Amino acid sequence: MKRILVTGGTGFIGSHTVVELQNSGYEVIIIDNLSNSKAEVVDNIEKITGIRPVFEQLDCCDLEGLDALFTKYAGIEAIIHFAASKAVGESVEKPLKYYRNNIVSLVNLLELMPKHNVKGIVFSSSCTVYGQPDVLPVTEAAPTKVAESPYGNTKQINEEIICDTVKSGSPVEAIMLRYFNPIGAHPTALIGELPLGVPQNLLPYVTQTAMGIRECLSVFGDDYDTPDGSCIRDYIYVVDLAKAHVKAIDRILNKQMAQNPEVFNLGTGRGLSVLELINEFEAATGVKLNYKIVGRRAGDIVKVWANPERANNVLGWSADTPIRDVLASAWKWQQKLREDGIM
Ligand code: WQD
Repeated sequence: MKRILVTGGTGFIGSHTVVELQNSGYEVIIIDNLSNSKAEVVDNIEKITGIRPVFEQLDCCDLEGLDALFTKYAGIEAIIHFAASKAVGESVEKPLKYYRNNIVSLVNLLELMPKHNVKGIVFSSSCTVYGQPDVLPVTEAAPTKVAESPYGNTKQINEEIICDTVKSGSPVEAIMLRYFNPIGAHPTALIGELPLGVPQNLLPYVTQTAMGIRECLSVFGDDYDTPDGSCIRDYIYVVDLAKAHVKAIDRILNKQMAQNPEVFNLGTGRGLSVLELINEFEAATGVKLNYKIVGRRAGDIVKVWANPERANNVLGWSADTPIRDVLASAWKWQQKLREDGIM
């Protein structure tokens, strides 16, 4: 059984990816510093797949700890690197936390991989590297733009670090996955997105408003250059996104890469506005959402959605789950959190 290390594996996308890796026959080792997730996620992964992943609480910035981990679990073939700080707003207030955490953790992994014969790394990047694209839908050939936040900048810098490391002759093979907007939860409602504090992202705020935890959803602007005036994004089901990571690991370990590193946009190829998402949520759940239009949020881009053809044709992957099923999964998760007395 091939052994895969998943950093940040108790997080939102990480936990869903561990499930899909196990479903595909991989042995998974999770490391996570639990700064933004809970160890109980490991129990819930086991409930879903029947297989308990190894879990070690560890910070990827701890070089010695990481070195010891690779020695302890010899034979790790590849890494999926999710562990990072990811709150756009917080990154503006605390840039050094973001540069230290998001840069040092990747540098440590890249430095240790050759020593421990770890062949490849799948890196969690973001469509945020494109900023506001000039052409839509956006392909991997689109130029990156000056980042709107330190968070976005760390993703760009990380991609450059990977490219420079490969260019320097390191044996590391890398696939960089640029996510659009991940949403939803596992159909079992045993794992999902668990934002700490007031949600910054749209869908958790929608489901918490629908649950009555939040009084009213604020729609940040309806005076943009879009059909209904609200911003457009490419919302991708987190389970579909997780499956793309398994495809990327398969590609590295089966030596199918055509170049090194490779980049893929992971989106549905369909844009949805904030107001459209609200309507789809109400249709999917039967819950009337209380919302109001307020001023624009600083840093928001107007519209972005992926051209996913490269991922479709080269990875053999596509995000096909209908949006109403995705939104229903998010609502089912929010209801489960209430049933379990979590929120
Ligand atoms: C989506 C749309 C908001 C909340 C960010 C990061 C990206 C990734 C996902 C980490 C926007 C609107 C939101 C609300 C609203 N993060 N909105 N009311 O900004 O597209 O992407 O999160 O990996 O890297 O940049 O996602 O969910 O915050 O916003 O109207 O209460 O919803 O204005 O148009 P975003 P988002």
